[in-house]
Amino acid sequence: MNKKIEKILKKKNKSKIVCLTAYSKNIAKILDGHCDLVLVGDSLGSVLYNLKSTKEVTLDIMINHSKSVRLGVKKALMVFDMPYNTYRNPTEALKNAKLVMKKTKCDAVKLEGGKKIIPIVQKLVKNKIPVMGHVGILPQTDKKFTFKGKKLREKRRILNDTKLLENAGVFSIVLECIETNLSKIITSRIKIPTIGIGSSVNCDGQVLVIDDLIGLSESKFRFIKKYVDITKIINRAVKKYKFEVIKKQFPKRKHSFNN
Ligand code: KIV
Repeated sequence: MNKKIEKILKKKNKSKIVCLTAYSKNIAKILDGHCDLVLVGDSLGSVLYNLKSTKEVTLDIMINHSKSVRLGVKKALMVFDMPYNTYRNPTEALKNAKLVMKKTKCDAVKLEGGKKIIPIVQKLVKNKIPVMGHVGILPQTDKKFTFKGKKLREKRRILNDTKLLENAGVFSIVLECIETNLSKIITSRIKIPTIGIGSSVNCDGQVLVIDDLIGLSESKFRFIKKYVDITKIINRAVKKYKFEVIKKQFPKRKHSFNN
């Protein structure tokens, strides 16, 4: 088994698993110093391309961003989010996942869904492609983005999905916007780590979109915490640069080439 995956599995019930998304090299390099797992999420569709839904994200877009992220991620586990319509059946999933692994050199792929995708997960795992699951809100297919686990039937279905995914061989599962108590139950009933986003402190780890954490996006979701307002910092720097260019204070002699 991949050593980085082993390390993540060992953290269950011991210490929290720290995860973030990255879409390009320079940010990825910073995150690599802090994270156990870096996800090239298809959230890049809305974050970078203003797409209405992740349905519009293509395999080519994801591969290009992942190649860049790979240049920055050396220590952390790098996970590639398989986009919508690239894993509709086991044959299609295997063909695309093999291409992704070859072109991006990522360590694993992530797929959204429960019971329906079990044969697909089994096919990839059988072919030695590590898979991360994703249940709760499924941005690729859900129509309503409200938190999951309100009703007993939904709770049972999600809990069952996580058990099926575990049995199919996923090494970890993202829980997106799952009710606090259900997150706790899932996390205690499966042996693999759960990674939460909007799913309370009851998960084995946490993931956020990096642009939300640094204040580069305009997302207002309840589960986001902005740790720094990088937009403010960039604005301040660019304003100063503009002033110095206009006032001929930059570039100075030391920034120029003189004989
Ligand atoms: O696409 C993404 O960034 C994700 C995370 C939010 C888990 O799937």
